[in-house]
Amino acid sequence: METSQAIERPEVALRGRDVLGIGDLDAREMRAVLALAAQLKERGRAGDHPPLLEGKVLALLFEKPSLRTHATFETGMFHLGGHALYLDDRSAGLGRRESYADIARNLERWVQGIAVRTFAHANVEALAAHARVPVINALSDWEHPCQALAALFTLQERWERLEGLRIAWVGDGNNVLRSLLLGAVRLGVSVAIATPPGYELDAATLEEAGRRAAPGTVIDVIDDPVRAVRDADLVYTDVWASMGQEGEVERRRPVFARFQVNAALLARAPRHAVVSHCLPAHRGEEITDEVLDGPRSVAFDEAENRLHVQKSLLALAL
Ligand code: CP
Ligand code: NVA
Repeated sequence: METSQAIERPEVALRGRDVLGIGDLDAREMRAVLALAAQLKERGRAGDHPPLLEGKVLALLFEKPSLRTHATFETGMFHLGGHALYLDDRSAGLGRRESYADIARNLERWVQGIAVRTFAHANVEALAAHARVPVINALSDWEHPCQALAALFTLQERWERLEGLRIAWVGDGNNVLRSLLLGAVRLGVSVAIATPPGYELDAATLEEAGRRAAPGTVIDVIDDPVRAVRDADLVYTDVWASMGQEGEVERRRPVFARFQVNAALLARAPRHAVVSHCLPAHRGEEITDEVLDGPRSVAFDEAENRLHVQKSLLALAL
């Protein structure tokens, strides 16, 4: 349909840039992505999809399963007037049939951007090193930057600001936490992290987060979920065992048992606090049905917002 008015394009130089981790975006650039996402969301709800990427193609290289990331990148490219080309491990033999470097050398001849979901973060880096088109990390074992953008967008939508808010992370010290922490603190959101012993975030990431944190932003690392949620505006959790760690499920279950986000834990958070999860959820493990389906859950709002923040990022980078 005809667009009613021009999109206000934020003045940031993201064209051609890779987003391998959330740290590839500075605070101004993250705010720009969120601002354009808000416009695209509002317009999209009215059925108005500005064709900002007409004729452009995004390759989706996926070694791991996905619902949200696959659906939102494909839908997003369609809305923007472009096309998404989905290549999974079975069809393209990612990294096995040929190296990620050679895949990059081929893809850059045909497409204007690459989103990749892989195990080893080194594969994301290899693509970026050998492709002259932007590479976006659609989840690696190390980071999930698009999820962090969606979480921050959802938080901002809820409270109409980010600075001064507090996130409590309850669960595994994983890829989603790493991106969320590194993105949040840069925008002035404090983070309290409760992870079980042996499953903490690595020291280098915590140190990097400390260096990046906006003035006044606090990072607390504790192993007590109750203390973590005490002052939270958002309580966040994720699966106890990520993709690729399926063999550790039984070993992890007893260690993580007291890190479940349930009604009892939520009762210890401020009354206004909301809850999210990047999804898919293992209901009855890291989060209960009652909480995930309850009035304080914004997990499905965040899933919707994956679409809007990724469209924004693509429109700025491709
Ligand atoms: N949250 C998320 O990335 O979901 P998928 O694994 O379904 O893409
Ligand atoms: N930490 C999870 C996130 C899934 C979206 C994983 O990597 O499997």
